[in-house]
Amino acid sequence: MTDVLQGTATCTAPAAWPQRPAGLCYGGDYNPEQWPRGEWAEDIALMKAAGINLVSIGIFSWVLLEPREGEYDFEWLDHLFDLLVEAGISVDLGTPTAAPPAWFWKKYPQALPVTREGVRLGFGSRGMASPSSPEYLRAATAITGQLARRYGSHPALVLWHVHNEYGAPVSESYDENSVLAFREWLQARYVTLEALNDAWGTLFWGQKYGEWDEIDAPRATASVGNQSQALDFRRFTSDAMLRCFKAERDVIHQYSPGVPVTTNFMATNCLSPDYWAWSREVDVVSNDHYLVAQRNDNHILLSMDADLTRSLARNKPWMLMEHSTGAVNWQGRNIAKRPGELARNSLAHVARGADAVLFFQFRASRYGAEKFHSAMLPHAGTGTRIWREVLELGAGLERLAPVKGSTVHSRVAILWDVESFWAQDLEWRPSSDLDHRERIEAFYSALWNQQVAVDFAHPGDDLSGYSLVLAPALYLVGDEAAASLRDYVSGGGHLVVSYFSGIVNAHDTVAKGASPGGLREVLGLEIHEFLPLRAGEAVQLSAGGTGTVWSEEIHPGSAVVVSRYVGGPAAGGPAITRNAFGEGVAWYVSTKLDGGDLAALLLEVIRGAGLATPSSPHEGLEVSIRSTATEQFTFLINHSGRAVHHEAEGFELMTGETVTGQLQVPAGAVRVIQSR
Ligand code: GLA
Repeated sequence: MTDVLQGTATCTAPAAWPQRPAGLCYGGDYNPEQWPRGEWAEDIALMKAAGINLVSIGIFSWVLLEPREGEYDFEWLDHLFDLLVEAGISVDLGTPTAAPPAWFWKKYPQALPVTREGVRLGFGSRGMASPSSPEYLRAATAITGQLARRYGSHPALVLWHVHNEYGAPVSESYDENSVLAFREWLQARYVTLEALNDAWGTLFWGQKYGEWDEIDAPRATASVGNQSQALDFRRFTSDAMLRCFKAERDVIHQYSPGVPVTTNFMATNCLSPDYWAWSREVDVVSNDHYLVAQRNDNHILLSMDADLTRSLARNKPWMLMEHSTGAVNWQGRNIAKRPGELARNSLAHVARGADAVLFFQFRASRYGAEKFHSAMLPHAGTGTRIWREVLELGAGLERLAPVKGSTVHSRVAILWDVESFWAQDLEWRPSSDLDHRERIEAFYSALWNQQVAVDFAHPGDDLSGYSLVLAPALYLVGDEAAASLRDYVSGGGHLVVSYFSGIVNAHDTVAKGASPGGLREVLGLEIHEFLPLRAGEAVQLSAGGTGTVWSEEIHPGSAVVVSRYVGGPAAGGPAITRNAFGEGVAWYVSTKLDGGDLAALLLEVIRGAGLATPSSPHEGLEVSIRSTATEQFTFLINHSGRAVHHEAEGFELMTGETVTGQLQVPAGAVRVIQSR
């Protein structure tokens, strides 16, 4: 297959969106190879009844397609394509490369992933092979090439789905090929060993390298290992997986010109690859989202995931590739969705820019690891509440066809840098209570409760389009990010930085001088000592409210003190500051504010940035607006248990009513107003 790997891609640019269906996409993963062929026609008739227009097939079927190395059998897939094309249902064709067959592992056991502790994982599940295995890459591109040649211009095919959730459940592999590839990656990055020794601070604990082949993957060590090395290994792994994706994508582009290629992201999963880089390589961004079902605020976290996905898609339409109709099977307590939640969840993604609503999966599996996972068609069949809600959702999505292609606009961005999260999660940090994810969720939730539209952005992005940028957890700030944030504020932007940000550079090395390194100037202060709080300790602040988890000894330069610590280890010192910098303003919050305290501060900042907030948002009413040059679509999603009234003028798409003045949104319902 080397010819395919190196072959020149065709000139036909891939489309950025599937050519069909005309409206919003609706459907899910479909794995009919798990049940008798005689039942497929019934499945497809049910799909038609539900308004399903797109299914993802073949995702885990490598062994059926290539039962022995180099021997192919496409008869069953041809038949499935025939049934789908006849029914007018479009195909998202998976490449089955997340589940290499038993013959592959028997012949190439060296491609099995190895854990940090040195355990070689076995066959019998699914997930990643070593992303640096040449045998895996060759076999994956071979089967992909076969599929692309055979189905690349099939009339039913509208999208390619490469692999499945790169990085889940295993991302890093410590096998021999990975070590060799890591060394090559390091040579490309650092060029000289001297530069690498310098970047990794190898003089600490006598770790200096004299030859490239002395460098290993960051295996389990007696005490804490080199953190810069561990961070680089994560970066390397993200790149190694991306190389696998690109190899498959390029083969597909060659034989299936014009058909877009995606791979399903897991946007807010911090163990994922660096999706800012990945989103530049896919033709269309798609995402899988599952509720953390037992959390009461899981609908807010859903919105956060959707907003991040839209931002990764650079505000172009994106696809919800997977979510669930009810309970999943892999959480501690698999709490089932309650009536109406399926539609609220699906439409909340649409409200935030998704033009496709797909589920895992169409029909429930009777055997295997996922037999207790919900599906569009549950084990109990069509007499179920879930099936009725699937039919209703299909009808609702048809009515929502006019929203297709409209976009969400936001003046506020939260910074999201997975490299910073990887680095912060390494060992031996000043407090085990430091939690970037928690802070981002807290800031996001405060804005969600005010129904402020939020994008996510990379700190190195051009941020000048935003009135307000929040950095709730930006431990790692490289030179580029520091310059970008300085430019943003000096140009008139408003920035809020929360504690334990700007602590290290891109190598996880403490920035020279006082913290917060590259952010010192823009925040107009120096931190002389971290003063973490004890478990459960709370400190009063002079301007009201309490802080927990963290405090610091802050020495303001040009920054003005907004609130001081009344008690605790930093008593009398600044807790919250504000610095006028150039044309803009930079706030610093040195402790963990929660609930009303965080909301009050953010409201002050929002208003200071000249942004309007709804005067009194209804609790539990999610409001999100999509628009085109001429039209606006206001999504109203009532997560509460009582009806609410909303001022509105326009045409309500879900009920087909014209609204003038007040619209009632019943408890648990969704309404979408189309207006000019
Ligand atoms: C992931 C996978 C699917 C399925 C679901 C179950 O998202 O991509 O194949 O395992 O989880 O929730």
